Amino acid sequence: TVTRKFIDNLPKAELHVHLEGTLEPELRLKLAQKNHIDIGTTSLEALKKTYQYDTLASFLAVYYEAMAVLQTEDDFYELAFTYLKKARQNNVRYVEMFFDPQAHTSRGIAIETVINGFSHAAQDAKEIGVDAHLIMCFLRDFSKASAYQSLIAADPYKDKILGIGLDSDEHHNPPLKFVTSFEKAVSAGYHITMHADVDQVDSINHIKQALEIIGVERLDHGTNIVENPDLVEFVSTHEIGLTSCPNSNKFLSQDMKGKEVQTLLEHHVKVSINSDDPAYFGGYINDNYWSLAQSYHLTQEQVVQLAKNSFETAWITDSQKTAYK
Ligand code: HPA
Ligand code: ZN
Repeated sequence: TVTRKFIDNLPKAELHVHLEGTLEPELRLKLAQKNHIDIGTTSLEALKKTYQYDTLASFLAVYYEAMAVLQTEDDFYELAFTYLKKARQNNVRYVEMFFDPQAHTSRGIAIETVINGFSHAAQDAKEIGVDAHLIMCFLRDFSKASAYQSLIAADPYKDKILGIGLDSDEHHNPPLKFVTSFEKAVSAGYHITMHADVDQVDSINHIKQALEIIGVERLDHGTNIVENPDLVEFVSTHEIGLTSCPNSNKFLSQDMKGKEVQTLLEHHVKVSINSDDPAYFGGYINDNYWSLAQSYHLTQEQVVQLAKNSFETAWITDSQKTAYK
């Protein structure tokens, strides 16, 4: 078996964390006061009591509501840099961070404000020993035209963005809805990934679209492919990374999906452990490794393999990879 200390000391890459999902209630209150935004309470206790969700949709409602306090470039910077310091404490050496520009542009914040704040924090992270990059996500419950506009609007900031992802409410929002934007993203030189949240309606079909038609390089969550041996074979052969998030799964599916992770490891699938929305799902990356390791009695070898997989499926060159080993 494995100790907490072993997990804490292990160098890790984090590939599935939403910057907006790192907004702790404390920072939310502080920014509400600074920006004079009424969030219904000034009490941390009372605010925390509103954090109630047990499905993807009920979580997303709280998550989008909370973002109202993010107003200025400094706010986006503070959010990201606060996360990056925590990542460093968790011995995360490399991170690719999701962000949702449409969740901000739709409430009147300029995309420039969002990207400049986040990318400035990513630059400053070098000084604390974290190599940080951004993945811009489309909100899949917004229109395909809105996704396309978001891609065009990000063009002037292309050198600050490593990849394009897809998140938010999956129900009735399949990957193919966004095929044009993802094709354009690939030809513009972006890496691509998509969420396939656990226990979603029509998930296997969504995963097939993402892998076989869109050609994603990773799947975010996606661990339910264990139901389908052909898909397991596909992701194993093509070295598609699967970014699993145990504490998130526990909140939204009442199951960490540890059996699935173990099965995927047995089939040499490059599955990794990540925190998803740590301010909402009870902990940062080491807490996720630890809860999974404890609940499923993971061996040291399995934990090391999960961390190796995180570097191997990161969007870095082979020479960069050796620098972390
Ligand atoms: N799934 C889908 N969309 C999201 C998530 C998630 O876990 N977190 C933030 N946006
Ligand atoms: Zn996610």
